[in-house]
Amino acid sequence: LCSSKSYYRSLSLFLFLRSVVFSRFCSPCDIKELFCTATGLSRNTTISLLDSTGELFQNVLTQVAEQFSRAFKINELKTEVTNRLAMLEKRVELEGMKVVEIEKCRSDIKKLREEMASRNNSFLDDNKKLTPRRDVPSYPKYMLSQQTIDALRKPTFDVWLWESNEMLSCLEHMYHDLGLVKDFNINPITLKRWLLCIHDNYRNNPFHNFRHCFCVTQMMYSMICLCNLQEKFTQVDILILMTAAVCHDLDHPGYNNTYQINARTELAVRYNDISPLENHHCAVAFQIFSQSDCNIFANFDPEAFKQIRQGTITLILATDMARHGEILDSFKQKVDNFDFTNEEHVTCLKMVLIKCCDISNEVRPMEVAEPWVDCLLEEYFMQSDREKVEGLPVAPFMDREKVTKPTAQIGFIKFVLIPMFETVMKLFPQIEEVMVQPLRESRDRYEELKQIDDAMNEVSTGLRHPSVPESTTKS
Ligand SMILES: *[C@@H]1O[C@H](CO)[C@@H](O)[C@H](O)[C@H]1NC(C)=O
Ligand SMILES: *[C@@H]1O[C@H](CO)[C@@H](O)[C@H](O)[C@H]1NC(C)=O
Ligand SMILES: *[C@@H]1O[C@H](CO)[C@@H](O)[C@H](O)[C@H]1NC(C)=O
Ligand SMILES: [Zn+2]
Repeated sequence: LCSSKSYYRSLSLFLFLRSVVFSRFCSPCDIKELFCTATGLSRNTTISLLDSTGELFQNVLTQVAEQFSRAFKINELKTEVTNRLAMLEKRVELEGMKVVEIEKCRSDIKKLREEMASRNNSFLDDNKKLTPRRDVPSYPKYMLSQQTIDALRKPTFDVWLWESNEMLSCLEHMYHDLGLVKDFNINPITLKRWLLCIHDNYRNNPFHNFRHCFCVTQMMYSMICLCNLQEKFTQVDILILMTAAVCHDLDHPGYNNTYQINARTELAVRYNDISPLENHHCAVAFQIFSQSDCNIFANFDPEAFKQIRQGTITLILATDMARHGEILDSFKQKVDNFDFTNEEHVTCLKMVLIKCCDISNEVRPMEVAEPWVDCLLEEYFMQSDREKVEGLPVAPFMDREKVTKPTAQIGFIKFVLIPMFETVMKLFPQIEEVMVQPLRESRDRYEELKQIDDAMNEVSTGLRHPSVPESTTKS
């Protein structure tokens, strides 16, 4: 209660009020009592409010209090409606789960039929006659065999065998298998819709496409399994790692940041040349979450959503290779005294993990890894060709006239991949055999291929210049 000045005139007390502040829980009686206490008068004092011209405000206190009480009723109503809505949503979700159950039953029935068919052909023949074809459900693309489920946990998984539907089922399986659906009460139908929407928002680039998204996420899943990350991290961290991997290249246009900046594209302008692509991937990810039918975080309280959002943004922005040195250096400083209870350490590790997965193709078996080099070169050539046409600077390693598969890979494996994975190895020694060793083998293989390439070039140079002695071409 702030009064600028008060004085007595006979039995009247005049308060010149600048402002009166009282709790929203005050009743008219309380307010009156506050006035009386503040001025030291007895409680039965009559209080009237006059405006500056001396006119009486009729029942002002009562009116104010009534307005408040009306506002409270509106709030009560709001709470009730929200509660009822939440209950209805819960019911819809339960129905959704039933749909999943029905799908499971159907696939069980189908399995049973197949088993019977394999055991007794004559029975099936009879059965076929009895059952019209339209009643036989078939969901071949959505069924993962136990063999696939087991293989999915390893970096040796062959990522080329699967169609989009099958990769979607695999991603869905990972969220269930890691306990994320259960622990965070994610609606399983929303999870399906979300993944489908993710798929639709990757473009058909030679490299930065949905299969790359799948590879990065599958490698993340493998690392979570291999390094027992669920023992070290909270489930929130696991959810952030997986979700950031799924979203990390959304709507990638196939031309890198340098091109965006040099060509002054809309993206570069929008994000002021600061990681334009990564900012875009992340913005698209959260545009998708803003559609309620794709929002797997719908059941989260605002604080939890904030944490997941912040974590996901940090990880997606960390995939800008322009920040590679900075991020790896920061991790190197922490790794020797790594503290899993230190939030800064954990965030830094998560950034390094998503970086590892993003560029992990060479960790995979040679047959799986090699086609990705062709895809990457195809995307590079697409960019360099366009840069030539538009008169922009061209990097030699992207120029179809200058680069070969071995030259493209050797430096990258030696100076980027191996140092980063060897640093992570200090924390998780188990990755040496499964991830670092394949990298070393790949480096050695590309070095051999390069020697062969070089020798071939010398031969062809020798053929063009017959005066060069034969012996020098064989070194
Ligand atoms: C107010 O109450 C006091 C006792 O608390 C009494 O002495 C006084 O006469 C009352 N005044 C009026 C105006 O009722
Ligand atoms: C298949 O099942 C039928 C009846 O269920 C039985 O008569 C028949 O011998 C079985 N055939 C084989 C090959 O097991
Ligand atoms: C992006 O392309 C430019 C050529 O325009 C090249 O110099 C740069 O190294 C590329 N960046 C990455 C991360 O590949
Ligand atoms: Zn990527």
